[in-house]
Amino acid sequence: MSDLVQLNSQTPGPAAELIFGDWYPALRSRELRVGKMTTALLLGVPLVLGRKKDGKLFAMRDLCPHRGIPLSAGWFDGEHVQCKYHGWKFEPCSGQCAEIPSLTSHDGLEPGKIYAGAYPCEERDGYAWVYVPEAGAGRSLGALPPVPELPKFSGKYRSAHLVADLPCNVDHGIIGLMDPAHGPFVHQAWWWRSAASIHEKTKHFEPIEDPSHNGRNAGFRMSSHAPSKNSAPYKLLGVYGEDVTTTIDFVLPNRRYETIRAGEKWFASLTTVTPITPSTCRIDVLAAWNIFYHVPLVKPIATYFGAKFVRQDQQTMIEQAQGLRYHPSLMLIDDADKPAKWYFALKQARLKGTGEHPLPGPVTLHWRS
Ligand code: FES
Ligand SMILES: [Fe+2]
Repeated sequence: MSDLVQLNSQTPGPAAELIFGDWYPALRSRELRVGKMTTALLLGVPLVLGRKKDGKLFAMRDLCPHRGIPLSAGWFDGEHVQCKYHGWKFEPCSGQCAEIPSLTSHDGLEPGKIYAGAYPCEERDGYAWVYVPEAGAGRSLGALPPVPELPKFSGKYRSAHLVADLPCNVDHGIIGLMDPAHGPFVHQAWWWRSAASIHEKTKHFEPIEDPSHNGRNAGFRMSSHAPSKNSAPYKLLGVYGEDVTTTIDFVLPNRRYETIRAGEKWFASLTTVTPITPSTCRIDVLAAWNIFYHVPLVKPIATYFGAKFVRQDQQTMIEQAQGLRYHPSLMLIDDADKPAKWYFALKQARLKGTGEHPLPGPVTLHWRS
């Protein structure tokens, strides 16, 4: 029997290895209200998230340590999460058990020695970021790397965010994000660029090392350069003079930072591709800017074009996922797929703890796009 017969739209594509021991955006923090529980999946881990009365966010493993029923099926009064099955109560930030209703004076069990899974959870840029530890890491996680944050270069700015689920694994989401050669085909539009505008490009890259966090946020930077002349949004930026520079950083496990600066004016974005399960992911784009600050409608227009852009990537990956279900062997070519090769090498170095960096120093790549 051929593969074809067994495949249906529910068949997941190939799984990716996941990087635990780092921060991932779980959901928009606005969804978290006092006394309400919200569930999310992150790296295949079921989570229940909420906001305590004091405003602090929590993220618990959504499984009661007693018999495994989801804690989200129970109650949350703004202080404690209570399991629906036997009423055990937990302080949700630490996971510590506060009460076991069935205990009597004849029992020696101390509830405070029991813990449900609870993960560090912090609010940044309107996201609830959750630190997902390695399996078996225990409760003392040691020094955590800083919570990721979008850099801003002035007090006043505007911001917007976009989200899209991708039916492929995180590796395909990430290499799609850093792929320079798909732009003229996937993002063909009068306001962006067309296949006819393809020309040769030369870009300089340099390694980003992160010795202070055991190489956790190692990556590479596309060095500061004048933006592509053939793209309309960049032409628009040109009104602020010739000193427009763009820097694009990719850092593990899944973050792409882009910064465009022109004197006092700036635009910054943080794009993350987050594993939901080993074979699916979600892309989040967060942008902030102070350009055109006083022009009305810039936010809806920017959001509209940004959403269109992300939808084009999403649609391509939905189609790609159909092909990937047949487990084809794939190719990475020089130089256009070099950043993807670096990503895979960085990821392996991190998973194996070798600390090796695929870039020996500054590297120049050439491609047409
Ligand atoms: S299963 Fe949760 S208290 Fe028993
Ligand atoms: Fe794209």
